[in-house]
Amino acid sequence: MLLQLEGAVAEGARHVERPVAELEAAIPEGDHDFRFRHDLAVEVGDALVGECGFGGGGHRRHLLAMDRTTVGIAGMRCKQDAGRRRRTGPALARDPTPDAAAYRRNEDPMPTAPYMYLDGSIVPYADAKVHAFSGVVKYGCGVFEGLRAYRSASGNLLLFRLAEHIDRLRFGMKAMRYERILPHDEIEEAVVSMLRANDLREDTHVRVIAYLGGDDPLHQTGPVGLIAGALPRPSRGVGGGLHATVSSWRRIADSALPPRVKCTGNYVNNRTAEIEAVQDGYDAVLMMTADGKLAEGSGACLVLVRDGRLVTPDVGSDILEGITRDTILRLGADITDRPVAERRVDRTELFAAEEAFLCGSGQEVTPILSVDRLPVGSGEPGPVTLALQERYFAIVRGEIPEYAAWLTPVWED
Ligand SMILES: Cc1ncc(COP(=O)(O)O)c(C=O)c1O
Repeated sequence: MLLQLEGAVAEGARHVERPVAELEAAIPEGDHDFRFRHDLAVEVGDALVGECGFGGGGHRRHLLAMDRTTVGIAGMRCKQDAGRRRRTGPALARDPTPDAAAYRRNEDPMPTAPYMYLDGSIVPYADAKVHAFSGVVKYGCGVFEGLRAYRSASGNLLLFRLAEHIDRLRFGMKAMRYERILPHDEIEEAVVSMLRANDLREDTHVRVIAYLGGDDPLHQTGPVGLIAGALPRPSRGVGGGLHATVSSWRRIADSALPPRVKCTGNYVNNRTAEIEAVQDGYDAVLMMTADGKLAEGSGACLVLVRDGRLVTPDVGSDILEGITRDTILRLGADITDRPVAERRVDRTELFAAEEAFLCGSGQEVTPILSVDRLPVGSGEPGPVTLALQERYFAIVRGEIPEYAAWLTPVWED
């Protein structure tokens, strides 16, 4: 029994869970390399429709229909990418780590998508490994990026400001004196091919890490490797909000561990502050510089609204020069009709501000509702923050053509 899948799935179909082993057992032996990506299937009448990856390297969605006795491929839209590597390794859904059903249901905490990019190959999540004595493990000398891709109205997946993230990653490799700075195109190809391998069209977070492998002394500068993976994760959307605290831990200084470099080792500082805040019952943490001015959050930049004007710690305040911060600086002046102030910011300005928010690729634009149990402004998301959120989410989903240059579509259709 063959089904016209996309249509049939839409009408009267319901999702059912079947163990992957059962789904795979239904596939007859043959000259194919099908793998179920997760243990969800769709039941239509007597038929099960499983969604599977196609092992030959095509990166489209392929669906397999079966009535438990007959198996056939229906709705096959296989576009084989000639010359791409054939995937090898264990069936994806049998890999130990991704909780495939939770991944499919978009549950929190969501695991990383089943395929990752590692040094020129697409590999199953479980095989994305570096040596235990590599430079990145021993000395924390990786550099990384976190960015997001958003589903557009037409069903494409749009990477937001990929070029700027790649530029910052390459700056990090330079600052860390890597012997080889990976070319821009190679990094872009890694990200896009990884997303295609995972057949992703939903909102997702993407992590890219350039690292030092080998087993060399502290001053090693190579060999240089590249990793990319995706964590499917819905956008936080408009509204919401966080209760924050100011950490007792100070932000690392440019003169010691430069926060401008998004280096893996730096995040011991962010992690220390975030753990303290979370264990004390807060949602988010703000860090101050060694001389007591506000710097940033553990994974996002800080912006205040004072007298209707956006104010943010300047780039000399031991912050990561955030790409979302740059986006907000560009949008903010239009929304407030006032130039944005980049300057040193005092801690007590948090209590004087009408509004405050965190901004970052992962954090997006998220209101801060209180700091150390004192409300920020009214204690609700304020009008400037809400207006910025509306505009930000319209831009990232490709709804404002003026900003199309910030978007990299993953799919050709
Ligand atoms: C410490 C820190 N600050 C700020 C940001 C925000 O940067 P971006 O907007 O480029 O994601 C991040 C996120 O990567 C971060 O880790």
